[in-house]
Amino acid sequence: MNALSLYDRCMPDSKHLLIVAHNPSANTQKLVDASLRGARHEDIAGVEVKHIPPLQAGPADVLWADAIILGTTENFGYMSGALKDFFDRIYYPCLEQTEAMPYAAYIRAGLDGTGTRIAIGKITAGLKWKAVQEPMILHGEYRSQFEDQCEELGMLMAASLESGII
Ligand SMILES: Cc1cc2nc3c(=O)[nH]c(=O)nc-3n(C[C@H](O)[C@H](O)[C@H](O)COP(=O)(O)O)c2cc1C
Repeated sequence: MNALSLYDRCMPDSKHLLIVAHNPSANTQKLVDASLRGARHEDIAGVEVKHIPPLQAGPADVLWADAIILGTTENFGYMSGALKDFFDRIYYPCLEQTEAMPYAAYIRAGLDGTGTRIAIGKITAGLKWKAVQEPMILHGEYRSQFEDQCEELGMLMAASLESGII
């Protein structure tokens, strides 16, 4: 996990974008794919992008990152248990070292999304992470437009890292 990737060896000054996104359904997998597509846009250089599902992501991954995109479904008015488990495990190990981490979030919700937005806001405020934009709530019937929004988000985060804005 701590070993330098081939990309890091070739591009020692590269920035790192981590996507921690829960993808339990075909639609949410499309959102991850779209985020990755945007973040890996051919016009963006020097940014390494990784998607790790929240149950597999841990403190070392967060410490690797220069910016993070969080993705979750809304379940029972809250973020997915998987993303909550991620926060439970990374909170204290990362608290002192990730202040001002730029992050953005997308929330796939059948109906609402508000409870999840508020909960992510509280935890990231505790971590003192810096929101690049308001969490994006993708609610209602699934629409392919959600993929466009995720692609734009991935591109925005990667381009912002590339240019040093974040
Ligand atoms: C157990 C369960 C609880 C859910 N609770 C909520 C909820 O509280 N609010 C909401 O907006 N959507 C809720 N949903 C809908 C999910 O957010 C939605 O199914 C998920 O984002 C996957 O979207 P998809 O059907 O486009 O793949 C729930 C779904 C499940 C399976």
